Amino acid sequence: MNRLNICFVLLLLIAFSCGPQSEQSTEKPQERGVIAENGMVVSAHPLASQVGVDVLKKGGNAVDAAIAVQFALAVVYPTAGNIGGGGFMVIRNNDGSTDALDFREMAASAASRDMYIGGDSIPVEGLSTRGHLAAGVPGSVDGMFVAHERYGSLAMEELIQPSIDIAANGFLLTAREARMLTGQQENFEKYNSVLPEFLMKEKWNEGDSIYYKDLAGTLERVRDNGRAGFYEGETADLIVAEMQRGNGIITHEDLINYKSVWREPIITQYRGHKIISMSPPSSGGIALAQLLKLVEPFDLGSMGPNTAQSAHLMAEAERRVFADRATHLGDPDYYQVPVSNLLDEEYLKSRFENYNPERATNSDEILAGDFTIAESMETTHFSVVDAQGNAVSVTTTLNGGYGSKVVVAGAGFILNNEMDDFSIKPGFPNMYGLVGGEANAIEAGKRMLSSMTPTIVEKDGKLLMVVGTPGGSTIITSVFQAIVNVIDHGLTMQEAVSAGRFHNQWRPDMIMYHENAFDSATIQRLQDMGHNLRERNGYGKLDCILVLEDGRLEGGADPRGDDAAVGY
Ligand code: DON
Repeated sequence: MNRLNICFVLLLLIAFSCGPQSEQSTEKPQERGVIAENGMVVSAHPLASQVGVDVLKKGGNAVDAAIAVQFALAVVYPTAGNIGGGGFMVIRNNDGSTDALDFREMAASAASRDMYIGGDSIPVEGLSTRGHLAAGVPGSVDGMFVAHERYGSLAMEELIQPSIDIAANGFLLTAREARMLTGQQENFEKYNSVLPEFLMKEKWNEGDSIYYKDLAGTLERVRDNGRAGFYEGETADLIVAEMQRGNGIITHEDLINYKSVWREPIITQYRGHKIISMSPPSSGGIALAQLLKLVEPFDLGSMGPNTAQSAHLMAEAERRVFADRATHLGDPDYYQVPVSNLLDEEYLKSRFENYNPERATNSDEILAGDFTIAESMETTHFSVVDAQGNAVSVTTTLNGGYGSKVVVAGAGFILNNEMDDFSIKPGFPNMYGLVGGEANAIEAGKRMLSSMTPTIVEKDGKLLMVVGTPGGSTIITSVFQAIVNVIDHGLTMQEAVSAGRFHNQWRPDMIMYHENAFDSATIQRLQDMGHNLRERNGYGKLDCILVLEDGRLEGGADPRGDDAAVGY
């Protein structure tokens, strides 16, 4: 039964079980997502969610399932799923312990601060976003092995095999994927000297079979040789040959030297909940913690979701947080990120001293906090909860849809264009309009700043929610909104996922919003308060899990994509 059918049946059940009283009630019945007793996987593709649930049913834990889903998405969701990119994994074990894995791409050793700047001192159009030079050294395969080493319970072979089978035997394209692949034909031709024949077709249609034979071969080498199946031997040779054909700079040494890093998650409290999220080199966890702390003193619940009052408050918090992001966030291995200053309660209070509940602040009046530091458009998210209550939140990406558009010839996978997430020139916006400076300047071996915000929420010592989404800079604000929608406004997981979203990132000075986010009176009111508004649909796909009071799990899959919650 698909998600819509399940929702329909649930709605009917709710309608019938409420009895005559509810006929007089004006309250809308709550819309729940997929409900399951034991385990749940919510991801961007039904086949990937199924692969994850199969692992859970076999007795695998949440990390096992997450690893299997990461590989499966690399096959069935190549716009963002990947082995040629990177990401972040946040873990909460059922004993309450937490962990965070950084498998973000690293800049190649030949990368340098001005590598994208042309003779006229401005960035060369497209150089950091398309083609071979846009790629960072991929981290996903190493990340999966490092996660497995610490937490895996089933053999890695068992977790990779389902993806090999799908890649070799083929699968049917969804309408959306067919559309996206058709839209990339010109790019694939332009950025590949060896044409990726298996992706080429004048027009892909829903239900077409697609096969990834070379990718199946690469995954077999990873299955048989572990990490070395990617970073050494035939796959590494194919990556380096691809680089040489396209003037890229990733070398054998860069591949061998790639390392994922275990980091301390960013942990904050919000209205009695513990929020566990990703630390730098993602800005996500810090930005989310700042946002929640800025709005905590206000009674958001009484303002209601997506009203002018609550949107104004949240947007004002957002513009201040993004100003800090632009200045203070970068790879902690290269730049001293002032984490404790940014999360200091007094500092955050001072950020809101000029907050006016009736008027928008001009972004030009907001600068990043001034600290003296002590000396010294694709991504994908998936959420997993297993029968033991372990939870995993993973956001992974090639950066833009189909990354750099470069397919490694003979190896069948797409390389990321993550280098664009560096600040390629101070004050010059990247593809998400984000600006940055010194903290996020390019250096060899450094990781580019991210907005990915895989998050887990705990209440009274127990797991409550697993949250995350793609969406570039809007990731941070979408995760913020989803958490507020559940905690402050009492929405179900599905309602919080489906709700129209809004976003302010300091620069440009405006609130961007989904078409269903506000009614016309709210839009008018926000404009009267001095906000610039712009409708922008299609960003973000929240794929989340909520633990209900009776212990069952509610999977909320974003209706804006092919996303699917599968539980058992
Ligand atoms: O790491 C980041 O913040 C970006 N590379 C994420 C890109 C993204 O979410 C695109 N998706 N829609």
